[in-house]
Amino acid sequence: MEQLSISGNSKQEKYETLLPQVQAVMDHNVDGIANMANMAAMLHETFGFWWTGFYRVINGELVLGPFQGPLACTRIAFGRGVCGTAWKEQKTMVVPDVELFPGHIACSSASRSEIVVPVFKDGEITAVLDIDSAELNTFNETDKEYLEQLLHQTAPYL
Ligand code: SME
Repeated sequence: MEQLSISGNSKQEKYETLLPQVQAVMDHNVDGIANMANMAAMLHETFGFWWTGFYRVINGELVLGPFQGPLACTRIAFGRGVCGTAWKEQKTMVVPDVELFPGHIACSSASRSEIVVPVFKDGEITAVLDIDSAELNTFNETDKEYLEQLLHQTAPYL
């Protein structure tokens, strides 16, 4: 299945086009992993990120879920790294330079900046979306707003 082409060049234009497409492929009749897999693929293809994927909360830790990109660590403890911190603090983490983030977990030395957005279901965090870039300062308030909106709207499918 081919993804529709994404028109526009600005980050905002890309998100505006992409978000309805992601929502359109979310499927109530499959489990959340299938939907996470398609969402990760669409974000990754559209923006050419270094690594795009989910960690799911399972038995009190974050466990690697569907992703696009190179090999990643499989388990992250509560409060550890950028992902565990987003889970603990219950908020999106935007990290312009991962080397300046205390406790950052370097799954790949090529990763330079990162955003982690929690998935809330009934007020509880059930997963986090983690996106890594090979360049510094890739993520800003625009990414935060659109990704939070996307995960808010699609949470029932994840
Ligand atoms: N850097 C993340 C770990 C996951 S990988 O980037 C895929 C962190 O510090 O939580």
